[in-house]
Amino acid sequence: MSDRPFTFDIPLPGVIPTRYDHHITRRLSEMVGYYADEQAFAAALAEKDETLYEVYEIRRPERAGELLHGVSIVHPGKIGNEYFMTKGHFHAVLETAEVYYCLQGEGYMVMETPEGECVVQPLRPNTVLYVPPRWAHRSVNCSDESDLATFFVYPGNAGHNYGSVAERGFRKRVVERDGRPQIIDNPRWRS
Ligand code: F6R
Ligand code: ZN
Repeated sequence: MSDRPFTFDIPLPGVIPTRYDHHITRRLSEMVGYYADEQAFAAALAEKDETLYEVYEIRRPERAGELLHGVSIVHPGKIGNEYFMTKGHFHAVLETAEVYYCLQGEGYMVMETPEGECVVQPLRPNTVLYVPPRWAHRSVNCSDESDLATFFVYPGNAGHNYGSVAERGFRKRVVERDGRPQIIDNPRWRS
């Protein structure tokens, strides 16, 4: 891994960076338990193990001082009335932040702290979002047609903690009601 300065482009539209080291694809089968409507989830999975989102990572050493970065792309779609979304996570080192820059599409970042604060922030092209330390975060694509693409940067030592979100979810969910996104309480959230 080079320690010389480097550049790359993020072509628009398309948003696949011209340089990346790692390409993650998250399929429906990896999201068991994340969506509220379990019947709709099972029906969708029986039809196709669709790719819900992808991440293109520019790898850096996972240590303080480094910045990990890349592009996250959530595809359009819904399970029942709940929009496609990322798993969401706390950083393993809770006191680490992250910056997101929305490149294209429309959606939300659902965020919450272990203490129970919750913020759902709209994302649209050119929005910069600062996720402070301690805030778990999940991207949600609420477009019917386009990908939600964001550029992200976070500290090399942050790590990821998926466990608590996998167990209890976020306090809020983003669903479609009457053709529009609506933020609702998560009926399955557990303290
Ligand atoms: C890194 C980060 C993003 C997400 C990506 C996929 O800390 O927040 O790169 O990792 O949007 O989401 P998850 O990791 O929640 O599946
Ligand atoms: Zn993160």
